[in-house]
Amino acid sequence: MITTIDPRLAATAIAGGHLAAVPTETVYGLGALASDARAVARIYAVKGRPADHPLIVHVVDAVAFGAWGVRIPTYAHALAAAFWPGPITLVVPRSERAKDFVTGGQDSVAIRVPSHLDAQSLLIELCEITNDRAVGIAAPSANRFGRVSPTTATHVLDEIGGLLQGEDVVLDGGDCSVGVESTIIDCTGPNPRLLRPGAITTQDVEAVSGLKVTHDSTVRASGTLASHYSPDAAVHLLTAADIAAEIAGAGQGVIGLLALADIETPIGVVRLAVPRDAEEYARVLYAALREADALQLEAILAVPPAATGVGVAVIDRLIRAAAGA
Ligand code: TXA
Ligand code: MG
Repeated sequence: MITTIDPRLAATAIAGGHLAAVPTETVYGLGALASDARAVARIYAVKGRPADHPLIVHVVDAVAFGAWGVRIPTYAHALAAAFWPGPITLVVPRSERAKDFVTGGQDSVAIRVPSHLDAQSLLIELCEITNDRAVGIAAPSANRFGRVSPTTATHVLDEIGGLLQGEDVVLDGGDCSVGVESTIIDCTGPNPRLLRPGAITTQDVEAVSGLKVTHDSTVRASGTLASHYSPDAAVHLLTAADIAAEIAGAGQGVIGLLALADIETPIGVVRLAVPRDAEEYARVLYAALREADALQLEAILAVPPAATGVGVAVIDRLIRAAAGA
């Protein structure tokens, strides 16, 4: 395995049937050529992920999107035009390109155009090497199944470094700017359906599509399992007013606090992050959960941000992290 800052090395590795961990604006992905069954199978092996969980296919632009989907509704094209490149994934009925080994056997496929400059360079390079303008990189978040997504190259190495092989690559593109996974919208029905909240909100989707976003969905999404994004420490969601009582009732172990900057740190508690707003909360969330485990904290007290903007996604991930305790 080699670590590099050169997207071309990652493109060469992926084209050659190897794996490459890839920075995106949301979290790091573990990428393979989406048309290569053997390489995609290695993603599942490295992640320890059940084979029926579908992967997101990352493509260079909205034209390539058209090659992976069929009967793409007008509102999905509008969302693609408005938000790509960017942190939103669109699920559409699949074309011949999207094989069972990528979709988990479902007849839909999840597509995203990432905005991280290194991910873009890698995709452009991969289009050239493969001579395919619609080439796709299948990439789930580069963590072991059910664990916290990586937002730095160091996190990736900590998570799966030991499982990568000779010609696999870790592309170091610095810290992820969003910090939580993409919004996923199921575009297989008459209305957009929210499968996973992210930095692009329900309101954003409604404004662009002119349609009401629904929440019920029959489509499976592993990031929507009750317990996910779980650190070893027990996560407790609470309000600022309940912090003192929670600490008084706690055991002997050291406790961590995750809360916006206007909330003070009680004596004896480890402050894991002091984000000034919901955007910063999202950016530092996963690093803070990892830090808690590195410090072998017993518990993490998390005071969530308000449920607006990316705050909705932060609350969603905190609830799932707490469910894993
Ligand atoms: O921000 C992100 O989306 C990151 C970066 C690397 O792009 N990727 C990511 O991948 O979070 P992953 O595999 O950890 O989560 C992808 C989610 C899963 O919950 C999966 O079930 C869902 O997308 N998904 C993929 N294909 C789907 C499909 N055809 N229908 C419904 N859900 C799908
Ligand atoms: Mg994931």
